[in-house]
Amino acid sequence: GAAGLVIGAAGGAGVSAAVSDGGSGGASGPGGAPALSTVGATEVMFHGKHQAGITTPSQSRGHLMAFDLAPGAGRKEAAALLRRWSATAKALMAGEAPAGDTGVALDAGPSSLTITFGFGRTFFDRTGLTARRPAELDPLPAFSSDALDPRRSEGDLWVQIGADDALVAFHALRAVQKDAGDAARVRWQMNGFNRSAGATAKPMTARNLMGQIDGTGNPKPDEPDFDRRIFVPAGAPGGQEWMAGGSYAVVRRIRMLLDDWEKLSLEKQEKVIGRRKSDGAPLSGGTETSELDLNKLGPDGRPVIPDNAHARISAPEQNGGAAMLRRPFSFHDGIAPDGTPDAGLLFICWQADPLRGFVPVQRKLDRGDALSPFIRHESSGLYAVPGGAAEGEYVGQRLLE
Ligand code: HEM
Repeated sequence: GAAGLVIGAAGGAGVSAAVSDGGSGGASGPGGAPALSTVGATEVMFHGKHQAGITTPSQSRGHLMAFDLAPGAGRKEAAALLRRWSATAKALMAGEAPAGDTGVALDAGPSSLTITFGFGRTFFDRTGLTARRPAELDPLPAFSSDALDPRRSEGDLWVQIGADDALVAFHALRAVQKDAGDAARVRWQMNGFNRSAGATAKPMTARNLMGQIDGTGNPKPDEPDFDRRIFVPAGAPGGQEWMAGGSYAVVRRIRMLLDDWEKLSLEKQEKVIGRRKSDGAPLSGGTETSELDLNKLGPDGRPVIPDNAHARISAPEQNGGAAMLRRPFSFHDGIAPDGTPDAGLLFICWQADPLRGFVPVQRKLDRGDALSPFIRHESSGLYAVPGGAAEGEYVGQRLLE
């Protein structure tokens, strides 16, 4: 789809779906067992140039976890852990249950499960690998509007789990936690969601909890500069070769101040972003996929897309071409102690270099775009996510072996 990452669109690189009747119960699979629906049967490949879970269409359920290495655990233990995690990810993504399994995902297919692994800045000192720490992991600058909780930020290791079924996702979460064994401890965990595959008449860009169509402006995999923007090239001067084919993930838990937001009129809400809520079209006209016309003036002589509109300020042409692939999950953790919804966006963005992606854009947004009064950044993480493992390899092997 021209809209980029869409929910429920089977297909694309590394994704395969068994053909079935869509789950009405009539078809049968191998050995006479009932065929899985397309949602359940869709499998994302573990091996590949890039790890799964970056360009994979967003799944309906997500878990994010950071781990810290246990005291005394070093490079050897970390290598063994990544080897275990990779074997688990490969098996579960193929729909195979490990021995002694909990049974939580029995009856379900892989359901587009992806498990993605990354390294935080602190990982490298703990494993004696400081010399191989990429400069891209230098701490993000502090932003004036940050309200970050360090206990829910950063971490030595990061795992992103996505699946189109909540039980499949939870099953993978427990397996990853169990594999950590004595080597690493959970530092923080966050749970998120997106719309379920099949909920809309046709695949569409997702909506966030403010009701906006979110993801339209994303770089598209078929654009010529997509790879250069999102993935680390091989042989970059001064670069870390073990990161070739990898990407940097910036993770921000962004609370939405929904009580305030929902009081705004539709007209004001649309001016905050610069796009229509109903279909995501720019206020300058057209459809969701039309270019923003940032110069178009209204009858009052003012820009139709206001000067402080979020989509104007974050547009690559306003930021020296800075671009990132946003692939978030929504979250809702009930009511916060202050009585407001603890809900918002688990903002995850992917780029070859955070200094040419997240940082310059957030710097500008932080000066106060129209969305800023309605959001609060509550945690932050930056992770080096290595390229995909080749057949016979584990994720991170080129760093850890
Ligand atoms: C565009 C919402 C935070 C970067 C958009 C759009 C919406 C939106 C509705 C327009 C549709 C689209 O192109 O996807 C939000 C919400 C946020 C948030 C609700 C917080 C809860 C951020 C942050 C950044 C960011 C922290 C990066 C620092 C962008 C970019 C675009 C965009 C790059 C595309 C601009 C373009 O190419 O036209 N956002 N956003 N957003 N946002 Fe955000």
